[in-house]
Amino acid sequence: MRGGRPLAGEVTIDGAKNAALPLIAATLLAAKGVCRLENVPALRDISTITRLLSGMGAEIEQRENVLEISTAAVSDCQAPYELVKTMRASILVLGPLMARFGEARVSLPGGCAIGARPVNLHIRGLEQMGAEIKVEHGYIIGRAERLKGADISFDLTTVTGTENLMMAAVLAEGTTTLRNAAREPEIVDLAVFLRKMGARIEGEGSHTITIEGVRKLSAAAHRVMPDRIEAGTFMVAAGISRGDVVIRNAPLAALGAVVAKLQEIGLNIEPLAPWSEDEVLSGTPVRIRRRAGGLRGLDVKTMPFPGFPTDMQAQVMVLLALAEGSSVISETVFENRFMHVFELQRMGADIEVEGRTAVVRGVPTLSGAPVMASDLRASAGLVLAGLAAEGETVMSRVYHLDRGYAGFEKKLAALGADIERVKN
Ligand code: UD1
Repeated sequence: MRGGRPLAGEVTIDGAKNAALPLIAATLLAAKGVCRLENVPALRDISTITRLLSGMGAEIEQRENVLEISTAAVSDCQAPYELVKTMRASILVLGPLMARFGEARVSLPGGCAIGARPVNLHIRGLEQMGAEIKVEHGYIIGRAERLKGADISFDLTTVTGTENLMMAAVLAEGTTTLRNAAREPEIVDLAVFLRKMGARIEGEGSHTITIEGVRKLSAAAHRVMPDRIEAGTFMVAAGISRGDVVIRNAPLAALGAVVAKLQEIGLNIEPLAPWSEDEVLSGTPVRIRRRAGGLRGLDVKTMPFPGFPTDMQAQVMVLLALAEGSSVISETVFENRFMHVFELQRMGADIEVEGRTAVVRGVPTLSGAPVMASDLRASAGLVLAGLAAEGETVMSRVYHLDRGYAGFEKKLAALGADIERVKN
């Protein structure tokens, strides 16, 4: 890619990866019928989870962004290492398998480039619901008669942990209370789908979720919410390139902390239709431009929702690398999520990392360079840097990008960016 072209035009946001993954896992809870999921993004992580379900015996039909899934014939409750190692979110099948079949054999996710990311809270919660869990030969092996409702307090906020235990509790005997639960919009989307299937859930989106177990759930249809991280990434792309872009289907209510920070840095974010702060699952068209007067540095701390998302940390860092003054970015969710910094330094950014904090001193320009993507959001950050840099940037290991952005370079090229894929 060659930087310097202001992006212009319209881009439409796809369905959210982090909502679609648990929704697909939840189809394992319906013993009969066909679940229909619409607005499923065409991503590598989505094909990983559909391969996982097919391997168990699920029947899956895919037409563009619609998935029809029947899990009636599932008989093999296993998630093999070969798939889990490529995507940690595979752990999301553990809760539904334990709930419906009373057994599961799921590979432990291996080390991850962005930190240790253990799953101890998923396991402990299932044990509190009466499951017997062993870890043997790298696999989590679970057994239970029928899970029993329990009062579960998370000692830290975990998104997939909350989702897994919610899916385990919907078929358990009695009431489960999840305390200090994660509040992410994707959890709300999952609760809405589970209720359509017949589950009894209250309190999603707050710190306390209550689930009253039912005997069985039926297949249901659902439309996946728009991807707040993809929308946030395009907001930065518009701003960093000094462009004028309309983003269709941006879930503004799910992007509160991101919008607030981007506006403070110097972007103009203008909703083009009425929207409500309460509707975290809905998309709105928004117009993004840079305000006169340049970009200003400021401090950002990543936090669980409704705080600033760790999945937008790399992207906002790139914007701050070109802002006036100094910024401090604190990463409180994952240790070791600053791998993009070393590549950005090679493009001329002035960033210093000390533990979980990065100090960014704005520079007037970045210069294109060969760079290497290390993980999904880091790769998005590097593309944004390339859009603003002088000269040519060549990013290798593009496949990281395909885990979470559908046709990213095509969408950017349609907005006028000088970008093409030469190799994966
Ligand atoms: C999810 C998102 C990911 C996002 C992250 C934080 C999906 C599929 N992925 O990941 O994109 O970056 O939330 O918003 O939705 N932890 C433990 N023990 C556990 C579980 C988690 O110590 O049992 C720790 C993790 O190491 C991490 C923190 O809790 O430091 C938050 O992790 P968690 O919310 O679980 O992230 P994921 O659900 O894996």
